[in-house]
Amino acid sequence: MSPNITKHEYQISREERNRKNQHNSFVIWFTGLSGSGKSTIANHLEQVLFSNGIKTYSLDGDNIRSGLNGGLTFSLEDRKENNRRIAEVAKLFMDAGVVTITAFISPLREDRQEAKQIIGKENFIEIFINTPISVCEERDAKGLYKKARAGEIKNFTGISSPYEPPINPAIEIKTQQMSVEESVEKITEYLKEKLVYNE
Ligand code: ADX
Repeated sequence: MSPNITKHEYQISREERNRKNQHNSFVIWFTGLSGSGKSTIANHLEQVLFSNGIKTYSLDGDNIRSGLNGGLTFSLEDRKENNRRIAEVAKLFMDAGVVTITAFISPLREDRQEAKQIIGKENFIEIFINTPISVCEERDAKGLYKKARAGEIKNFTGISSPYEPPINPAIEIKTQQMSVEESVEKITEYLKEKLVYNE
């Protein structure tokens, strides 16, 4: 940070926004391989929360990379920057009183740890979408695994770039054993208590 920056305290706090919305705000951070089902589950989760009157917003890897993070590659260095910016944006949304869902591969433990630090550990809910690479590759909805195997995409997660699964995620979803609806139910069950705003 530049030494000539002064932080201003604005009068309307996250606390006041939470009171007005009558629910708490935090960040739900999905991690998992490409094609594991992060976006699908995030999308359904958001619809359920939204229809229950919760203020929500979703930040999705493919979407953010076509805008804010358009200039970033898939080198580990750029993924780190991708991760950092998302964490900062997610924090802003959370401060605005919004339950913020992020759906990025976020492959490295160290980078997710950094996100947790930026957002605050009490506000950071890590959800591991655990789908084995063989299944992601079999589905290959975007045809990217095929290209990666053919050497047409460099640094592809799980093939030519690492993925480090979380050690102790708040929730783990094994998509081979659970439907999208069941997965969302497991998550909303976990969130119920966290959403309750107490004066
Ligand atoms: S992250 O590793 O930096 O967190 P992010 O979630 O933003 O990745 O973007 C991943 C998406 O970009 C994938 O779902 C896929 O559609 C696309 N993609 C393109 N190239 C790659 C690559 N080399 N590795 C992984 N995903 C890629």
